[in-house]
Amino acid sequence: MLAELLLNWYDLHQRRFVFRGPKDPYLVWVSEIMLQQTRTETVEDYYIRFTKRFPDIRSLAAADEGDVLKAWEGLGYYSRARNMQKCARVICDKYGGIFPDDYEKVRALPGIGPYTTASVLSIAFDRPYPAMDGNLTRVLSRVYGVRECVDTPAVAEQLRRIGEREMPARRCGDFNQALMDIGATICLPGTPDCEACPLQEICDACKKGDAPALPVKKEAKPPVPVSVSVLIIKQGGRVLMQQREQTLLKGLWTYLLFENKDRDQILSELKRAGIECVFLREMGKAVHVFTHRIWNMTIFECEMRPELNVPAGYLAVTKNEMEKLPMPVAMKAARKLCMDEVFVR
Ligand code: ADE
Ligand code: SF4
Repeated sequence: MLAELLLNWYDLHQRRFVFRGPKDPYLVWVSEIMLQQTRTETVEDYYIRFTKRFPDIRSLAAADEGDVLKAWEGLGYYSRARNMQKCARVICDKYGGIFPDDYEKVRALPGIGPYTTASVLSIAFDRPYPAMDGNLTRVLSRVYGVRECVDTPAVAEQLRRIGEREMPARRCGDFNQALMDIGATICLPGTPDCEACPLQEICDACKKGDAPALPVKKEAKPPVPVSVSVLIIKQGGRVLMQQREQTLLKGLWTYLLFENKDRDQILSELKRAGIECVFLREMGKAVHVFTHRIWNMTIFECEMRPELNVPAGYLAVTKNEMEKLPMPVAMKAARKLCMDEVFVR
């Protein structure tokens, strides 16, 4: 019943996206990785550019990690890009460059969880796996009146089994994408538009009137604020940069960052690292909100003694070189200040 209603509705009302045309598993995979944590409108532009730059698995496998991160710059959650490249290399080494169509093989690839496995297999290979994301969880919990906390594994599994049970024999990808579309346009969090919904006649939550309260979730922890000093350290016509090794923004390039430290602590830490410098001035402030942290940034212009060598692990770059490095959106304000006020002088 569900599948028939969904597919009839999808034929008339599906959203059109550039990434929905091709059924090439590589292209479906790229779009599904991008779509997991990024809005569909943003994904379209990145998808076009990324697949032009890396049109197939082999080109991605052969690329420099820096180039892949550069193509991902601004999308966030950069481990997705690093994992995609690992994944492309595994597919080339183990499967001759052909994207596998077996659930266990796909699931075992780096960075591919149950959601991506199900979405790629259903869309590219018409396999009957429900792609359980936030949209499917919300719509199915409402239609089938699942009122327990969906963050518990048992309830998540219950919903997945409902999805599997309702899956049609054909058009599995359309079934998943119809649920995504209804979740994104009609069955919205807090404000479902049941009057416009093709599932109204079979929907338990709509009948009982508690749809806005579903799904039940445990409350999310708010992000923790940290104060971050951003040091734009110049030496001649160059500026010091550092590549992140921490999980957050790993592989991306930033100015020198110090969390929750005062000026004296920073200067002595720098001195120990062989970077003797002076603070020239405060340039401005910026805020960037991550999932688990908020960076309250203060941006400083500093100068390193001209006779000192740049220690290993840091890069002193020109304006042109900086433009080629992948940098996180969190550095946007500092980068602009650096471009406009540091590199000019
Ligand atoms: N979100 C994740 N996958 C999607 C898809 N295939 N279409 C629309 N939104 C999505
Ligand atoms: Fe969601 Fe309302 Fe449709 Fe039920 S009828 S699926 S609650 S929009």
